[in-house]
Amino acid sequence: MKIFIDTADLQEIKEIASWGILDGVTTNPTLLAKSGRSFQEVIDTIFDLVDGPISLEVLSEKSDEMIKEAKGIVAKIPQKYQKNIAIKIPMTPEGLKAVKTLCKDGIKTNVTLIFSANQALLAAKAGATFVSPFIGRLDDNGQEGMKIIEEIMEIFCNYDIETEVIVASIRHPIHVIDAARLGADIATIPPDVIRKMIKHPLTDAGIKSFLKDWEKVKK
Ligand code: G3P
Repeated sequence: MKIFIDTADLQEIKEIASWGILDGVTTNPTLLAKSGRSFQEVIDTIFDLVDGPISLEVLSEKSDEMIKEAKGIVAKIPQKYQKNIAIKIPMTPEGLKAVKTLCKDGIKTNVTLIFSANQALLAAKAGATFVSPFIGRLDDNGQEGMKIIEEIMEIFCNYDIETEVIVASIRHPIHVIDAARLGADIATIPPDVIRKMIKHPLTDAGIKSFLKDWEKVKK
């Protein structure tokens, strides 16, 4: 399973990319606002940090405006990085129309705010490169989020659909394990959850005791 980082915090992306585990980045307007940086500042740097798909979201609601906005974003990125841009488009009829056109024009799309397998199927039919089902928000709403990942993986597998499934709105390390067990293509994970995935008290205790014992035998 590929691991994307779900943040627009450039320091966090830089640090965690240096561990050699990142395959891509997803952002959204909320994450950009949290980063305290302008959209321009983020896109000026983010492509240097990770060589993989980087999702940036459009805010327009009409398909022709979404397409214009998407092409405007692509135009701002240096040519050598344009292969890595994925335009995040909301799951609406207008969004699907935009996905169809962008797909025809060779621009990658990531259909976001997906909360059902039917939405994922329609996004894939329109030509989405990625779909992003939001697991944590379904859990928050009293519905088992991971269930729709199971359904989407089964449907996409039945028809050899090439659209990749990004498990999004991940809240804790168990979500990551469940996504991997279901064969999801990608999990996009907030930095704090990635840090939790690394930690184990027995690892820390093991290092401490090895260092202590080494003191007795070195020389
Ligand atoms: O990738 C989607 C994600 O950013 C949404 O997460 O925690 O706001 O539901 P959350």
